[in-house]
Amino acid sequence: MTWPLINPVMLNLFLHLIPIWVGMEMNSILNNEKKSISRRRLIGYAWIGAGAVVIGELIFGTFAFLWPRRRKNKGEKILIAGKKNDFKVGEVVYFRKERVFLEKSEEGFLAFSAVCTHLNCVVNWNERLKKFECPCHGAKFNRYGEVLEGPPPRPLDLFKLQLVEDKVVIDMSNPIERRRFEPSQIVKV
Ligand code: FES
Repeated sequence: MTWPLINPVMLNLFLHLIPIWVGMEMNSILNNEKKSISRRRLIGYAWIGAGAVVIGELIFGTFAFLWPRRRKNKGEKILIAGKKNDFKVGEVVYFRKERVFLEKSEEGFLAFSAVCTHLNCVVNWNERLKKFECPCHGAKFNRYGEVLEGPPPRPLDLFKLQLVEDKVVIDMSNPIERRRFEPSQIVKV
């Protein structure tokens, strides 16, 4: 739906100018007709101004509601991690800025969030123990992001991953909550 002749932004601007105009009018009356102005007339102007604002806000609210809203671009959060052959089997790579772990196993790739599912601390990968560890309350997760110990209620959240030609592309816009690790979560190479 389009409203080419009535732009709500302009309408709102116009409506907010009315009280200013009324104020200027009143000033002018006070300055020029100080002697003859009646109190009743001043009150009358004030009421006109207030009424115009109320009616204007109603009209503006209606048109703003009808006006087609510009779609907010939520911003795709895509991470191109690299070429699939850049990663070694058994390797866990951390993308610090994005807070994403990418794991390559014999079967394929798995990408998940580094944000702990307990209270959102960032977990670390312990290469020696092959575990993710949360520094806040001592939680530990296995290499698939499953909870081994500690208070987190669920595994680390998964990210959608695709292999586009030979590139590993991770979509971080919608972390996927999961109850457990399942082999189907691995994207085969
Ligand atoms: S925030 Fe990670 S265990 Fe509490």
